[in-house]
Amino acid sequence: MKKNKRSGHIGVLTSGGDTPGLNAAIRGIGKTSANDGSLQVIGFRDGFRGLMENRSVRLDNSMLSGILTLGGTILGTSRDKPHKMPMGGRTVDMTDVIVENYHKNHLDVLVCLGGGGTLKNAYRLSQKGLNILTLPKTIDNDIVGTDVTFGFDTALGVAVDAIDRLHSTASSHHRIIIVEIMGHRVGWLALGAGLAGGADAILIPEIPYTIDTLAESILERVSRGKRFSIVAVAEGAITKEGASKIRAVEKKLETAAEDQRDGLKKQLKQLDGQYRGSTIQMASELEKITGLETRVTILGHLQRGGTPSALDRLLATRLGTSAIDYIKNEQFGIMVAVDGDQTRAVPLQDAAGKINFVPPNHPWIISARNVATSFGD
Ligand code: F6P
Repeated sequence: MKKNKRSGHIGVLTSGGDTPGLNAAIRGIGKTSANDGSLQVIGFRDGFRGLMENRSVRLDNSMLSGILTLGGTILGTSRDKPHKMPMGGRTVDMTDVIVENYHKNHLDVLVCLGGGGTLKNAYRLSQKGLNILTLPKTIDNDIVGTDVTFGFDTALGVAVDAIDRLHSTASSHHRIIIVEIMGHRVGWLALGAGLAGGADAILIPEIPYTIDTLAESILERVSRGKRFSIVAVAEGAITKEGASKIRAVEKKLETAAEDQRDGLKKQLKQLDGQYRGSTIQMASELEKITGLETRVTILGHLQRGGTPSALDRLLATRLGTSAIDYIKNEQFGIMVAVDGDQTRAVPLQDAAGKINFVPPNHPWIISARNVATSFGD
């Protein structure tokens, strides 16, 4: 963590996929600064691109009023990275322009609201000498160093509501309904929603499955007179075969010479595309093996839209307001993380580039197994 001079101008941007609670966090930062009286907040549009293009807006009380309950982000967002910015059909390193604009705007600190990708970009900028703070937002809950991320609770609620609704139609038609749930490479959302919604099987990336074991568990239900099944599938779920092929390439990558790395990374990407996100194909295989009519519902971006839950509003407000304490304390180069009902400062290098996977012995997994939920393993 670095200590620099006292802050007066705070820049804020939202980057990566939008998440319910972003506006509550922006409001928390803005209103706490306004109450302090000595801090001004400038918002940059559309993530790092807005800072690069110098598109900003003063976040005064008129901008902040009425946004607590709004989904999305009033600032707009993008997945653009400072060092790989798409520019007229090319990808250009615009880090220097971003650093220049930080100084042109007389920023004392830049607060980046984002997930895993944002953390990496924020860390790179802090290595360029900028004072950076991040707040952990993502529906995926895949950030290391924080108890939880804001946006997760709202998305979980949407997915549970979907499973509840799918139950009655699956039951009426005696069908298997497979519901695909977001989460990128981790299974927090599918696991949480599957357990809370009473799914009969849950497939997550952390527990590779085989289609035969999954089918067996469904046929076992049929033998007990249960004529329908709900399967909650994480978008990153993977078969045992796919997982072992990916693991083999990852292992090679660990010790690969520099000239082999790009080729191996390409292979990994191909395997990922081949083995993950194949819910529709998996459904047709399951239908063939079980002989049961099968339907697929992909929740997709529904899980990111709409009003933030009360819990996410509380969490985002708490993180936004606490960020000002860290700024006044001149603690930079950190993520303001959730630590029970407190916050803690996590150095960016400790969280950037890492993924918070579901541990195999997590209480949700144990509980799900105890209530006879199949993981297809
Ligand atoms: O990281 C949030 C997330 O919604 C993931 O769950 C999902 O894999 C991804 O973003 C989708 O990204 P996009 O909105 O760019 O399609």
